[in-house]
Amino acid sequence: MMEEPIKNSFMTANTELDTAKVPYQTVYTGARIPSIGVGTFGSDRFSGEAIAEAVKVAISVGYRHIDCAAVYGNEHLIGPALRDAMTVNSIRREALWITSKLWNDKHSEADVIPACEKSLRDLQLDYLDLYLIHWPFPNHHAPHVDVSSRDTNAKPYIHENFMKTWRQLELLVDRGLVRHIGTSNMTVPKMKLVLRDARIKPACNEMELHPHFQQPELFKYVVDNGIVPIGYSPIGSPRRPERDRTNHDTVDIEDPLIVRIAQRLNVHPAYVCVAWAVQHGHIPIPFSVKREQIESNLHAAISAPLTDAEMMEIKAIDKNCRLIKGQVFLWKENQPWEDLWDIQGEIIQ
Ligand SMILES: NC(=O)c1ccc[n+]([C@@H]2O[C@H](COP(=O)([O-])OP(=O)(O)OC[C@H]3O[C@@H](n4cnc5c(N)ncnc54)[C@H](OP(=O)(O)O)[C@@H]3O)[C@@H](O)[C@H]2O)c1
Repeated sequence: MMEEPIKNSFMTANTELDTAKVPYQTVYTGARIPSIGVGTFGSDRFSGEAIAEAVKVAISVGYRHIDCAAVYGNEHLIGPALRDAMTVNSIRREALWITSKLWNDKHSEADVIPACEKSLRDLQLDYLDLYLIHWPFPNHHAPHVDVSSRDTNAKPYIHENFMKTWRQLELLVDRGLVRHIGTSNMTVPKMKLVLRDARIKPACNEMELHPHFQQPELFKYVVDNGIVPIGYSPIGSPRRPERDRTNHDTVDIEDPLIVRIAQRLNVHPAYVCVAWAVQHGHIPIPFSVKREQIESNLHAAISAPLTDAEMMEIKAIDKNCRLIKGQVFLWKENQPWEDLWDIQGEIIQ
């Protein structure tokens, strides 16, 4: 996959790594997307500068897939980092896969193309490989607000409106600003409508995926329809903001099975989560600003260390534990967060 592989190798988990071996998946256009990316949302803990530096490190050790978003507020810093990393490591634009996302306050028809153009300017790119609608709701909330915060103009999912936004994404493809478009934080009922009505179908769907939250039904639906699943919070987002935590949340990297497999491999449990993602067939986008973790996660993606029996055992520890519940996008008073996720199989209005 790597057109200009970095030749360095490193010792992260007992074996040397040839970074040219990073696997990839093929999207329906025939384009190849690296099977691991690096996240760029710092959970409010790191400066944009630190995250941009982590992107440079990631590219230098062999990552070619970067998961960005306008709302992370750091694309203007990641742009120069990308340019530097491409120059220093002699990487052509075509060797990278760069994703960005349309934020919820830019769903109206007039706003979509300017929002994408701003991300392109900030990232210093001529085109994006993938542009996602970050959430299927147009509901906006200010950064850092508590989960009880609500947008007074909040609305449920209105398919007609979503498709108006989607048509603008299709225009971005027509104009060559974006190579692929996709969805994020979706459900099966919503995906069915989008697939029915899209002129250009989603290439990827970004969804929360980790051993304690495997979303088997949505995962199968996406794969069966030729859409590549990208898994966010692949390590179970152990450092997510306080506002995204509840007493019922479980911790993937403390799960006895994940810990046991990590001990067998002599690695951190995070390594097992990343390896599971790639062997399971989705693309993890772990976040870290630490070089050793960035390297370890790449190593996990390449090494396929889990046995078939371990993969079966991990399948059985799914706890249906959604961590990013999305409460701030709710549109009614005293509404349960589950309403965002259509758990009865129908879109909640
Ligand atoms: N589409 C969406 O709506 C959406 C939502 C959420 C996230 N995302 C994307 O997904 C990315 C990742 O999600 P996330 O940050 O929530 O969760 P995550 O990747 O599951 O967890 C990140 C944390 O795991 C720890 N970690 C990473 N690599 C490690 C390693 N090798 N060993 C030990 N610990 C390790 C780090 O903690 P320490 O810092 O303590 O070491 C890091 O802060 C985001 O950056 C963003 O790009 C997208």
